[in-house]
Amino acid sequence: MDQADGLRQMVRKKAHDMHGGRDGCRYSEETSSTRVISVTSGKGGVGKTNIVGNLAIALRRLGKSVLVLDGDLGLANIDIIFGISPPYNIAHVVNGEKSLGEIIVEGPEGIQIIPAGSGVQDLVHLTQGQKLNLLNEFDALEENFDIFLIDTGAGISSNVIYFSIAADERIVVVTSEPTSITDAYALIKVMYTKHGTNTFKLLVNMVDREEEAKSVFENLSNAVVRFLNGISLEYIGFIPRDGNVEKAVRQQNTVIRSYPESISSKEFSVLAGRMQASSADVAQDGNIKFFWKKLITR
Ligand SMILES: Nc1ncnc2c1ncn2[C@@H]1O[C@H](COP(=O)(O)OP(=O)(O)OP(=O)(O)O)[C@@H](O)[C@H]1O
Ligand SMILES: [Mg+2]
Repeated sequence: MDQADGLRQMVRKKAHDMHGGRDGCRYSEETSSTRVISVTSGKGGVGKTNIVGNLAIALRRLGKSVLVLDGDLGLANIDIIFGISPPYNIAHVVNGEKSLGEIIVEGPEGIQIIPAGSGVQDLVHLTQGQKLNLLNEFDALEENFDIFLIDTGAGISSNVIYFSIAADERIVVVTSEPTSITDAYALIKVMYTKHGTNTFKLLVNMVDREEEAKSVFENLSNAVVRFLNGISLEYIGFIPRDGNVEKAVRQQNTVIRSYPESISSKEFSVLAGRMQASSADVAQDGNIKFFWKKLITR
């Protein structure tokens, strides 16, 4: 039995114990379900962190409880736009120095945030002890969240990919730049061909008009239909190019809070409303503990 088998067995036993020893029982029967949504991209700098930050606020305003993970583990991105400087981060949990409760910080409007940790480069290559630290901590997490939003890094590194394939929904962010579109295609291709992930949502950022976003979607969708048959790629909307996004970042804030009347702020609210309306279509067997189990025992 190798290390991975050992861990899998331990995790299975843990799941079994959690269900009072009953086999075949789903986590969701005992904990309320959480939509686990990753926000990812092939190319960097397309707006993921701003999208996560603004969507988190917009979803809060619809009455949702929201947990955000800064999954760009090396570079703490989310801290800036939420105006926080957390003393601890997920690296402290991985290394057994802090509990999850001790590192989670509250951001604006009651959003809860798991800060990124420098030094945690690759979640899939943690030691067995570190993986168990994470699993134990997420098992012990008592608070239930409606939505768990993950801001991933860009590209096809294992952290990015694994966060996204373990999530219930994947929002792939693109702009109309050709390299952003080809990199998004490459990311989707890797997730599909190597991991069998076949549902993706497309959000087009920094466009001047919705027609531009639709045409980006058509381009990518045509390539996917032609070369990666079996994938569902769904257009979920666009965010306009808006100078106030950057202005808000300079104030260490989200545009939806700094400039609520801005064109992008309005579109973030529309998007959150659409996501809320689509919740019925999402498989409701997700929860945060199950997500980490999937992530870590791959
Ligand atoms: N809709 C928008 N309109 C104008 N500027 C935007 C918009 N969205 C994001 N930006 C700007 O683009 C830059 C990159 O945004 P952001 O940091 O959110 O991207 P990212 O995808 O998270 O980057 P990284 O891959 O480095 O994590 C920032 O300067 C931000 O202000
Ligand atoms: Mg980012």
